[in-house]
Amino acid sequence: MTKFLPDDDATGAFATDLATALPESIGGLTLLLRGELGAGKSTFARALIRALGHTGPVPSPTYTLVEPYEVPEGPIYHIDLYRVSDEEELRYLGWTELDEGFRIVEWPDRAPGLTCQADLSLTLRYEGDGRSIDVVCLSERSRALKSALNC
Ligand SMILES: Nc1ncnc2c1ncn2[C@@H]1O[C@H](COP(=O)(O)OP(=O)(O)OP(=O)(O)O)[C@@H](O)[C@H]1O
Ligand SMILES: [Mg+2]
Repeated sequence: MTKFLPDDDATGAFATDLATALPESIGGLTLLLRGELGAGKSTFARALIRALGHTGPVPSPTYTLVEPYEVPEGPIYHIDLYRVSDEEELRYLGWTELDEGFRIVEWPDRAPGLTCQADLSLTLRYEGDGRSIDVVCLSERSRALKSALNC
């Protein structure tokens, strides 16, 4: 499914729809956020993390690689792999310790080993003054989202 998002409020609203459609237990889910620089990945992630109950700031994880959050449904890890050039670097991040949480991953293609375990892939593209978002459900767990999001 592809949806047009005319402005950043629309990006936030779609992230909120996704939060509502997510299964009750979000532990172990992996969401891939793809798109060029400035396409809106962090905007989407920020709105999603807030819609799941986080009230504080949501800084970009570009330099820290991982920003952790604790919401009623459990841990969320907002991850940005832009600066990762070798998948091996992820070992030092304690990647496996992130297994219990909901992983939201920007620039996932920097770590191809990760994309094969993903549940949902969202791709943002520039379209005029807005963006389009392409939604692909990749696992059984994300099938429930399919009808809710029409994807
Ligand atoms: N649907 C939209 N239409 C127009 N502008 C948007 C839309 N969604 C987000 N934006 C704007 O586009 C910019 C996106 O920045 P953001 O940091 O979210 O991008 P990013 O994909 O995370 O970039 P990076 O690859 O550097 O991490 C912000 O200025 C935001 O306000
Ligand atoms: Mg970003």
